[in-house]
Amino acid sequence: MSLLSRELPLRHKVMRNRIAMPPMANRAATEEGAAVPALINHYAARAGEKVALVILEHSFVHSSGRAHPAQLAIDNDELVDGLAALARAIKEQGALSAIQITHAGSKTTSEVTGQATAGPSAVPHPTTGNEPREFTAAQLTQLRDNFVQAALRAQKAGFDAVEIHGAHGYLLNQFLSPLTNRRTDGYGGSEEKRAKYPLEVVSAVREALNEHTVLMFRLGVDDLLPGGLTIEATSRFSVLLEEKGVDLIDISGGMGGYSIVDEKPGYFRTHGRAIKELVSVPVMVTGGVKTPELAEEILSSGDADIIGVGRELLKNPKWASEALRKLS
Ligand SMILES: Cc1cc2nc3c(=O)[nH]c(=O)nc-3n(C[C@H](O)[C@H](O)[C@H](O)COP(=O)(O)O)c2cc1C
Repeated sequence: MSLLSRELPLRHKVMRNRIAMPPMANRAATEEGAAVPALINHYAARAGEKVALVILEHSFVHSSGRAHPAQLAIDNDELVDGLAALARAIKEQGALSAIQITHAGSKTTSEVTGQATAGPSAVPHPTTGNEPREFTAAQLTQLRDNFVQAALRAQKAGFDAVEIHGAHGYLLNQFLSPLTNRRTDGYGGSEEKRAKYPLEVVSAVREALNEHTVLMFRLGVDDLLPGGLTIEATSRFSVLLEEKGVDLIDISGGMGGYSIVDEKPGYFRTHGRAIKELVSVPVMVTGGVKTPELAEEILSSGDADIIGVGRELLKNPKWASEALRKLS
């Protein structure tokens, strides 16, 4: 029996194998961010071919954090019915359903949001150059509540899991990173203080969710930019995530995005191993995996517990069922 085909418990739920579809934005939602039937078919098709965990694309918790037009939203109660249809379609196929909740912080523009752009500090975003205002402490409290309300909507819609986005240069990554967090209040100034706001969001969400809902965190393990976050700091942060009740750590890149150019497929596996040495919750590694053999080898070498397969699943909805058959 292959490792890829083995079940994995997640809180009170079970993944039927170790293959996950990581969040990938379709830019197909309505202007308000509502789900459309094409999205249901898109996710159900992958779930129906044995993917064990389907994580829906980044969905904004407040309109000031919309990253791009036609992005999925989870910022108001009217969206719950549409999201419930998505969760149901995935679960009917035997997969666990998750949704990624996010705020873009300074990695968006007023043109996209129609509002002032803000981030942890008034410094240009390192990859977009956008110049934000600094969030006030009162705004951050409000935003933390937006994350909580979004997570509760996901739970109400029937999702098995909620994933908080802390990667790819978005808001919570901006708080963790010394490149974008120059605050002088309790939320900046040292590694510990830079971690404070993301951890407050995690704790508030965990406390609000019921005991059956799985909480995941997508962690940008390395900013891939000079002076940015590296695995030393992010592995220490992973320990705190586990302490605050995160059930699964989903690894990706930080400011520099989700791929390491010129690196071999499976390029975040060494980061996965470093984090796995420090935490006992499952660790998911995504990035460049194309073949079932590589997925199996990453699992067997102990670098990850779950393999995320992104672009290959976009190309071939049957990737997971074919991989499991090939390894059996
Ligand atoms: C079209 C597209 C959209 C993406 N959207 C998201 C997203 O919404 N949230 C996220 O965390 N990652 C997003 N990603 C990154 C993927 O989750 C994944 O980490 C990346 O594609 C690398 O894995 P792969 O080599 O298996 O494709 C996106 C990637 C692609 C190709």
